[in-house]
Amino acid sequence: MYNTNSKPRPSHAAAPPSGDAFVHAMRFAGTGVSLVTTDGEAGRFGATVSAMSSLSKAPPSLLVCLLSESRTARAIHANRHFCVNVLAAHQASLARGFASLPLEQRFATGVWHTLASGAPVLERAASCFDCRLARTVEHGTHTIFIGEVEALTTSGGAALYYHDGRFHIAGDVVEA
Ligand SMILES: Cc1cc2nc3c(=O)[nH]c(=O)nc-3n(C[C@H](O)[C@H](O)[C@H](O)COP(=O)(O)O)c2cc1C
Repeated sequence: MYNTNSKPRPSHAAAPPSGDAFVHAMRFAGTGVSLVTTDGEAGRFGATVSAMSSLSKAPPSLLVCLLSESRTARAIHANRHFCVNVLAAHQASLARGFASLPLEQRFATGVWHTLASGAPVLERAASCFDCRLARTVEHGTHTIFIGEVEALTTSGGAALYYHDGRFHIAGDVVEA
């Protein structure tokens, strides 16, 4: 079992942690939640991601990390573009759906349109970043997709937040 008591494990342990221990520890790294989408010759695909980050201001760029074998990763490789739709607090059911529903049902909920690239853009998302695929980096099981932002939308409001396997509303201000 995992070490769940309050005593931290030493960082100089001889053996590296297992993949399961790594995934378990990552449950407590709270994140925003996005839907990464693509559409083109390879078809329309989309998946829920927590592994999304801003990368560069000039050119405006971001990255998402996807399981290399996933259908969405393969389609982004082929279509050469993707959109990151950062979910608002009221969009938790979309987050679950894009991680578990059959592909043909994923886009049935929500209002979708397109901006520059043709990738699906979700109305009322907190922010949407429509990207040209600039570069990929494979590492282990996953691939980093770096996108240069060609168009964006912003609705603002409370963001959806994921922590310890559950969705929350991010909104309470904590001053240090
Ligand atoms: C909250 C949440 C966050 C997730 N984050 C990621 C992620 O960052 N990268 C990833 O590859 N999968 C992530 N997943 C899993 C994918 O959404 C899921 O495997 C999806 O079915 C992949 O779709 P596809 O196989 O049609 O491409 C996440 C799932 C949930 C519920």
